[in-house]
Amino acid sequence: MTDRTALVVGASRSLGLALAGEFADRGWDVVATVRGDTSEGLAELAARTGRVTVERLDITDTAGIAALRERLGDRRIDRCSSTPASPTPTCRPHRCRPRCSPRSW
Ligand SMILES: NC(=O)c1ccc[n+]([C@@H]2O[C@H](COP(=O)([O-])OP(=O)(O)OC[C@H]3O[C@@H](n4cnc5c(N)ncnc54)[C@H](OP(=O)(O)O)[C@@H]3O)[C@@H](O)[C@H]2O)c1
Repeated sequence: MTDRTALVVGASRSLGLALAGEFADRGWDVVATVRGDTSEGLAELAARTGRVTVERLDITDTAGIAALRERLGDRRIDRCSSTPASPTPTCRPHRCRPRCSPRSW
């Protein structure tokens, strides 16, 4: 049990989904982003662990990044990970949230 939160961008499948699962299974809360509908795998993870909040985000959408930041409000993000290739400069963790750690980028 932890009080830590990970932001996992691109968590619908593959590495992002696996990473979200690792965090959740280790007791972290997870903010997991998808571009479209929540994938079956992510929905199963959310239901199984009760630790996953799904958010919509396309990293090429600057306004969408700002909107997610707004939705997160004061929520503390302890780790950030982005699986989509070639992230835009505006999606660098230190720009997403002051408390994001670039170490896991
Ligand atoms: N898998 C491997 O074995 C492996 C090995 C070495 C390196 N890598 C690298 O690791 C990275 C991730 O690999 P992967 O296999 O997990 O890739 P993947 O299966 O293509 O998954 C990419 C994830 O990123 C999301 N995504 C793509 N474009 C996005 C965007 N513009 N905004 C937000 N989310 C977006 C996808 O969401 P959607 O579902 O909406 O498309 C999906 O959830 C890649 O850079 C890859 O080159 C992978």
